[in-house]
Amino acid sequence: MIIAIDGPAASGKGTLGKRVAAHYGLAHLDTGALYRAVARDALAAGGDLADAGAALAASRALDPATLGDPCLRTPALGEAASVVARDPDVRAALLAYQRDFARKRPGAVLDGRDIGTVICPDADVKLFVTASPEERARRRYKELEACGVNITEALVLADIRRRDERDSGRETAPLRQAEDAYLLDTTNLDIDAAFRAAIDLIDAAMGCAGRVV
Ligand code: DC
Repeated sequence: MIIAIDGPAASGKGTLGKRVAAHYGLAHLDTGALYRAVARDALAAGGDLADAGAALAASRALDPATLGDPCLRTPALGEAASVVARDPDVRAALLAYQRDFARKRPGAVLDGRDIGTVICPDADVKLFVTASPEERARRRYKELEACGVNITEALVLADIRRRDERDSGRETAPLRQAEDAYLLDTTNLDIDAAFRAAIDLIDAAMGCAGRVV
């Protein structure tokens, strides 16, 4: 069983992906972490993100064991990840890892931007999770504030809008809802309500409430 969850920055798809995976006993891959790690490694090697070679080298040498690094969650790496993710060669270098992850038994939940459209077009269920930019900025600002990051909500909103534009406007694998994806708008839902709505959609799509794999 493969579940694809796509959506824009700070839509809650990561938290949802983790909970959905635990609910069905599946593995979970936050594919945004791959692009964040590529940006981290390219920068650490002294590379300039405007230089395609640095990101490509980092994507080819990526060590998946480093994907749990908490430093990947910073706003700066989110922005840098969105920049390196425009490069079709970087995307190609990360494709096999994602597909292999999805194919392993008993199955997986992958969240990102192009899971339903490019990585797993044959996923059993596809969700497109979104929320208004203002609500996403509010949630992300609260998270950052709780971690002691000194930033304003207006700056977080500007960052989210810039990333939405870059991720949706790029030529290769842009952020978009797959034709057969269910839309889940979480603007007015807290995480528990969003989780229940996701499970209801998935169970209905699988044609049998509570079915596993
Ligand atoms: O989901 P996230 O915020 O951690 O993702 C960081 C960036 O990585 C995002 O702005 C665009 C890129 N990304 C992508 O292009 N494709 C994916 N499947 C996941 C993330």
